[in-house]
Amino acid sequence: MAIIFDKEKKIFFLNTAHTEYQIKINEYNMPLHTYYGDSVGNADMAYLIRELDRGFSGNSYECREKRGISPDTLPFEYSSDGAGDYRVNAIGIILNNGSRTLDLRYKSHSIEEGRAPLNGLPYVRAEEDKVSSLNLVLTDECSGIEVVLIYNVFEDKDIITRSAKIKNNSSVTHILSKAASMSMDMPYKRMDLIHFHGRHAMERLTERNELTHDLQVISSKRGTSSHHNNPFVILCDHDANENSGSCYGFMLVYSGNHAEEIELDQAGSIRIVSGIADNNFSWKLESGEVFETPEAILAYSADGLNGLSYLYHRIIRENVCPKEFRDIKRPVLINNWEGTYFDFDEKSIIEIADAAADAGCEMLVLDDGWFGERNDDNRALGDWFVNEKKLPGGMSKIADHVNSLGMKFGLWFEPEMVNEDSELFRKHPEWALRDPDRKPVMSRNQLLLDMSRKEVVDYLFESMSKILDSANISYIKWDFNRSVSNVYSNWLPEDRQGETSHRFALGTYDLLERLRKAYPDIMMEGCSGGGGRFDAGILFYSPQIWCSDNSEPVNRLKIQKGTSYGYPVSTMGSHVSASPNHQNGRMTPLRTRAIVAMSGTFGYEFDPRKLSSEERSEIKEQIALFNRYYNLIQKGRYFRLTDSRSEEYFTAWEFVSEDKSEILLNIVVTDVRANPEIPHVKLLGLDPDAVYEIDNLFSSCQNLAAGTVDAGRKEKGMKISGAALMNGGFAFDPLYGVYPALQLHFVKGA
Ligand code: DGJ
Repeated sequence: MAIIFDKEKKIFFLNTAHTEYQIKINEYNMPLHTYYGDSVGNADMAYLIRELDRGFSGNSYECREKRGISPDTLPFEYSSDGAGDYRVNAIGIILNNGSRTLDLRYKSHSIEEGRAPLNGLPYVRAEEDKVSSLNLVLTDECSGIEVVLIYNVFEDKDIITRSAKIKNNSSVTHILSKAASMSMDMPYKRMDLIHFHGRHAMERLTERNELTHDLQVISSKRGTSSHHNNPFVILCDHDANENSGSCYGFMLVYSGNHAEEIELDQAGSIRIVSGIADNNFSWKLESGEVFETPEAILAYSADGLNGLSYLYHRIIRENVCPKEFRDIKRPVLINNWEGTYFDFDEKSIIEIADAAADAGCEMLVLDDGWFGERNDDNRALGDWFVNEKKLPGGMSKIADHVNSLGMKFGLWFEPEMVNEDSELFRKHPEWALRDPDRKPVMSRNQLLLDMSRKEVVDYLFESMSKILDSANISYIKWDFNRSVSNVYSNWLPEDRQGETSHRFALGTYDLLERLRKAYPDIMMEGCSGGGGRFDAGILFYSPQIWCSDNSEPVNRLKIQKGTSYGYPVSTMGSHVSASPNHQNGRMTPLRTRAIVAMSGTFGYEFDPRKLSSEERSEIKEQIALFNRYYNLIQKGRYFRLTDSRSEEYFTAWEFVSEDKSEILLNIVVTDVRANPEIPHVKLLGLDPDAVYEIDNLFSSCQNLAAGTVDAGRKEKGMKISGAALMNGGFAFDPLYGVYPALQLHFVKGA
């Protein structure tokens, strides 16, 4: 059993293959966090708590004589406000009498095999894994508030998930003002915080800073997890790098407003709290009612950031994403958005399908503009019926034609939105989320639908089902193109308006769940103006998410690298788009674009009718290559090989198959140089005793003398041992040209 309770010492040991998490209940029934890290053989780590009498750190009444025991410095498992702990709190409450104090003490617990699903929220599925769970019941006697802390231990995957259920056991109503999923204290840590910030078209850029005193908050109040701050943060030792050092990950399985609060306190101890953002949040908890928080995924690795990423990649791919799409080959798609924008009709889509099929694409996705009067981005969201002026044969004519070419067919939706200029809004203005006394804030000229209303979710399910039933549709691209504002639901009462944002998220999950159940074979790709909702919550329903509207490969290196810390490449929607790029105007070689896009789900995003015959055969070659390496890329281990300093010159990364028999080494030079330093990297994760041979290379490098693509590079045929590649590394011949890229495939054993 992964969870052990030592009755005498009142310690819970949560053991995974390599890590251990400890909770101790002290003599006053305070639930203390005493350890998380490498396994220590269930040694009692409470000796680390030193009972120092600090000035202005008060004591609970019953230990007023023991001044060293202060809620201000004790490491708590779930922190509350008002009872002497001045650090950031996990739970906030306004009690029926106006008091805001909560003092949570241990009441009981249960330990079980397996895990219970969350109610209406995404979570980490048990699948075929050995999972045990601990329910730790805490109670505040005065108010009757009970908090059940839920821990699920994924033993073999070195993962622990946490969430909380908050119940009102009293006969009166209390108001929750904050309800985080987890809180954890780490005494004696001097750490760096790594987080993933960004903006539209430049998402999840990596930022690493040493923690300083007081509170740092990584959050979104945009109604989605957002382009701006991903709900995933890492705390690591100062000397941790990609390959060594202690790293802790905290990822929220949630797609709405979130906050990761990290505090370095007076005593040099760190607290992290993660959950739904408390900004504008409140939840009325009537007698007997329960509030359930989203789940957080915790991981620890002593093997540096690559080691931590591996744990997240495995759990997301195998236990968060829908199983149906885990092992099947997903199609290489072509999306018409950047090829046509709104300017298409039946004839042009059929021509695009013909050209895409000829180039070897496996699925055509018809993007925005196929419904209602949607001829630009000012109207028709909500009108989910085919625009027969554009597509007179209906959706089935397009789908049938695409299918007849041997391709699958996919369709774009933006379900949670409505335009004022739409049939839906004219019929149901009250379904829009907006403050009735004000003019709404507009963005892309659209409003949000009130997903907290059941009839809205019903309408969306029915209107989307009608389309899905009308044609052979294999894929949905699910978009979301604005941030939330004027959060106000026209059906919720005044004292429940603080619930709107979370109820919105629950409504979205409900719709996703209903569609998944009704159409289990239809694969979804999440999207929010690119990667504005790239989170484990959306991945629970859709195994891939459009990573960014920016598919220019040099910018994408940074976006995909930042994304890779928490999410596997199998989740990253990545396409080859036109050059010059539509987002930044940069020109790059087709092969460089392909090498970067292959480290994702792979597809194309341009007008294939404009391809030259050379480009068309080039694309055939790219698709064949991607399909040949599909398992290696999608299921192999991914390693970042360069740090930000080397990346001023080049970026390199590597895939290694689980059995270590194959390697795919990729490099893109972003600052090409004359008389260059030799690009050099040390490979990772290989079999030291094996000899690896480079059997294929794919390059966009120029041969300076010939002025052509360098097909005859010297690397092909080289044989090097795994030990040599990991210790001596690999030295590339110089890469010349415009953003030159090289992909080397190694096989073990010849
Ligand atoms: C934003 C998406 O990220 C694009 O790919 C495209 O689908 C547009 N929306 C369509 O409006």
